[in-house]
Amino acid sequence: MARYLVTGGCGFIGSHLIERLLAGGHEVRVLDDLSTGKRENLPDGVPVTVGDVADAEAVRSAIAGVDGCFHLAAVASVDRSREAWLETHHANLSGTIAVFDAARRANPAGPVPVVYASSAAVYGDNPNMPLTEDAATRPLSAYGADKLGCELHARVADGVHGVPTAGFRFFNVYGPRQDPKSPYSGVISIFAGRIARGEPITINGDGEQVRDFIFVKDLVRYLTAAMDRPQSGAPVYNVCTGRPTSVNRLAEVLAELSGRPLDRRHGPARPGDIRVSIGDPSRLVAAFGMSCDTPLEDGLRQTLAWL
Ligand code: NAD
Ligand code: UD1
Repeated sequence: MARYLVTGGCGFIGSHLIERLLAGGHEVRVLDDLSTGKRENLPDGVPVTVGDVADAEAVRSAIAGVDGCFHLAAVASVDRSREAWLETHHANLSGTIAVFDAARRANPAGPVPVVYASSAAVYGDNPNMPLTEDAATRPLSAYGADKLGCELHARVADGVHGVPTAGFRFFNVYGPRQDPKSPYSGVISIFAGRIARGEPITINGDGEQVRDFIFVKDLVRYLTAAMDRPQSGAPVYNVCTGRPTSVNRLAEVLAELSGRPLDRRHGPARPGDIRVSIGDPSRLVAAFGMSCDTPLEDGLRQTLAWL
């Protein structure tokens, strides 16, 4: 049994991670500003400190005495990082440095490991698919630039301050509890919610852009495995399936699974939108001995059932 801090624990991915940690018998506490997260995402009894992850004092007090930290708090929307550049930068990069810094002195036994969320957005417009971790990073958005900054500071945390870290470049994550009502949510939850309510969906651009969608329950297994075996050298891993799905195809499958007609409209392409994003999961599979194996249709069924 270990004690963990989960930043952003009231959010979509954080709530699934906490479910897994509690099932493993661990003690969990959360730091979250509730900007997109909700307490209702968590079972009763999980202590939540409402605070900003970029507030060094709040992080120091939340992390005191834990055995490790899962750092997921961020403004997770590419669109939002365009509209509120500096504000999202504070949460996404300064917040991460605050966590690494506090991890140095979190425990009298020494620095504690930090497992953190990076993003496929670090690859930006790199056209060399599928993307391996050694591919050039060319972020197109403030969000992607800040996630790359997190990875660079993870090297400082490890090399200069002795804080073990593991970074995960999530591709497009979906599943139950991803807010279907927020315009800043992922495409799957937005489409699933609208189709289920009989409302039209808007496809940005021609809809032939592709993504590598991963089911949230596959993903959280890697986070806990990395915490169980902290490594030096600030490694980063793609979390992806290697399988592409276009936005058009996604809309069609969702309509088919929910048994509703598809009312699709096309809007302008989103500024800074990545055309193709497909990851190579080889390093992930080699390091952890498991792959993201939930078939898209199964994951979509579970997502629709939750709505
Ligand atoms: P989410 O919005 O559901 O979760 C983020 C959580 O962080 C929320 O609970 C929110 O209230 C909290 N938060 C935001 N700003 C904060 C701040 N300044 N201080 C404290 N808490 C704050 O999003 P998610 O999809 O669960 O994302 C979790 C992590 O995974 C994020 O770091 C995100 O960038 C990363 N990520 C997500 C995806 C995806 O497809 N969902 C892909 C790549 C990376
Ligand atoms: C997503 C994540 C981001 C992560 C990145 C990894 C979300 C909200 N964002 O960004 O945190 O770092 O993957 O690469 O999960 N679309 C439509 N209509 C809509 C909504 C979206 O056509 O109503 C399109 C978008 O233009 C885009 C695609 O669907 O082409 C996916 O969009 P989105 O789910 O927002 O994810 P990313 O921008 O890929």
